[in-house]
Amino acid sequence: MVSMETLVSLCKRRGFVFQSSEIYGGIGSSWDYGPLGVELRNKIKRVWWRDFVQRRPDMLGLDASILMHPTVWKASGHVDNFTDPMVDCRECRHRFRVDQLAETPWVHYCPATKGNKFTIPAGGACSHCGAARTLCPDCGKGELTPPRQFNLMFKTLMGPVEEDAAVTYLRPETAQGIFVNFDNVLQSMRRKLPFGIGQIGKAFRNEITPGNFIFRTREFEQMEIEYFVNPHETVEGRPADEYWHDRWIEDCLAWFRRYGIQSDNLRLHEHARDELAHYAKRTADVQYRFPIGWSELMGIANRTDFDLKQHAKFSGKALTYFDEERKEHVVPYVIEPSAGVDRALLAFLADAYREEEVRGEKRVVLRFHPELAPVSVAVLPLLKKRDDIVRTAHAIRDELSRDLTVVYDDTAAIGRLYRRQDEVGTPYCVTVDVQTVGDSDKGEPADGKVTIRDRDSMEQIRVEAARLAQVIGDLLRGTAWAEVAAGAGRS
Ligand code: GAP
Repeated sequence: MVSMETLVSLCKRRGFVFQSSEIYGGIGSSWDYGPLGVELRNKIKRVWWRDFVQRRPDMLGLDASILMHPTVWKASGHVDNFTDPMVDCRECRHRFRVDQLAETPWVHYCPATKGNKFTIPAGGACSHCGAARTLCPDCGKGELTPPRQFNLMFKTLMGPVEEDAAVTYLRPETAQGIFVNFDNVLQSMRRKLPFGIGQIGKAFRNEITPGNFIFRTREFEQMEIEYFVNPHETVEGRPADEYWHDRWIEDCLAWFRRYGIQSDNLRLHEHARDELAHYAKRTADVQYRFPIGWSELMGIANRTDFDLKQHAKFSGKALTYFDEERKEHVVPYVIEPSAGVDRALLAFLADAYREEEVRGEKRVVLRFHPELAPVSVAVLPLLKKRDDIVRTAHAIRDELSRDLTVVYDDTAAIGRLYRRQDEVGTPYCVTVDVQTVGDSDKGEPADGKVTIRDRDSMEQIRVEAARLAQVIGDLLRGTAWAEVAAGAGRS
């Protein structure tokens, strides 16, 4: 498995992710997505939206605002319950989550070795004096304060005059925007249960211990679905909520596999009773084997009727569905598949990373699924001094870029250009050479063909430039390279 340092370095060098406000020394746990990062991010969101919202007849979309009525957060339980217990070091002022203290290596000045400094692995004891950690893990000197509850929501003021302004919060999850719009969507779109509402948007949490690159940040993006089911119905002999919970778990796992995540790197984690959120009947996390170890990639929770009932109670509005068959009003149960865009991006990146040896040299390649690759096609002229070759390459770039992310590059020799594209995961390179345009000085006619190089096999085929858009389109839609190559003839 690739290390986090390698990924961070690749991301910076190749324009995927930069430290936020870097020229000012950076700001903790905030990251900016560069030219390739934003393409990858947008493509992850696009295929998620297409597969889970657009293509499903039982799904609809929504884009709710980040700032909501403050009572939303009272009703949802976030004001009272969205807290982490934390302790502070009285000496160095470093803040820790209580539940993570046991997982943190700690600094120890050992009295049995004249106060020598040691770093002891998480949860371990000093091998010289046998002491276990009691002081600050970071400085090894300060006493820790008793635990205090720390609310993770960012508070903000709404309105131009500070004294009169209403306190509200940056949303800590997109989910509540869906719950408060349940009736609007139901009435305007006339849906029958079960149906779901999907949303992609930013969320903010004042995490005590953010870190591990883009894994845990204070500003991140979620792709969430609230899927409403009739709790009085059964499907295949099971309560509808339980049936749909399992279906969503399967669908989410299949989605990550479909876009290239290796099955061995995915597993399910069922929340134990004491791990469950206050609203959940059952939660299963999809975990990924990140460079930091197995960690949550997304959660799929059965939130029961908790949220709709809470919002009905606090707003005084009925949030029910009329079951025509049973002639009764019901409060739907909710299944919630909730994924982080940033964590999905980190998983796709880590999973795609390979170091291979090609003709005695190291090749770094990101084997992204073609639909996720930040650049779909790179157009490369073999000779940048030949105007006709450059002109043809630009014309091809212009044509392909109507539907695809395409780059033109003539800043190095062809072998180097291929390596650069491999390193950012571009599935296909198109080369324009002398044969494409012909050589009138030598009396060689143009054959009008260009070379397509496949990133994974590094094989090359020649196709007529006139057919290029169609061939590339077929490849990106999933036609196997071998099939296309058989039709074209390898070069
Ligand atoms: N509405 C349910 C909910 O928000 P969650 O498990 O707290 O549940 C869902 O968050 C997903 O959002 C997580 O599985 C993760 O992918 C992402 N996520 C949560 N906190 C995050 C953070 N601080 N940084 C990056 N992603 C985060």
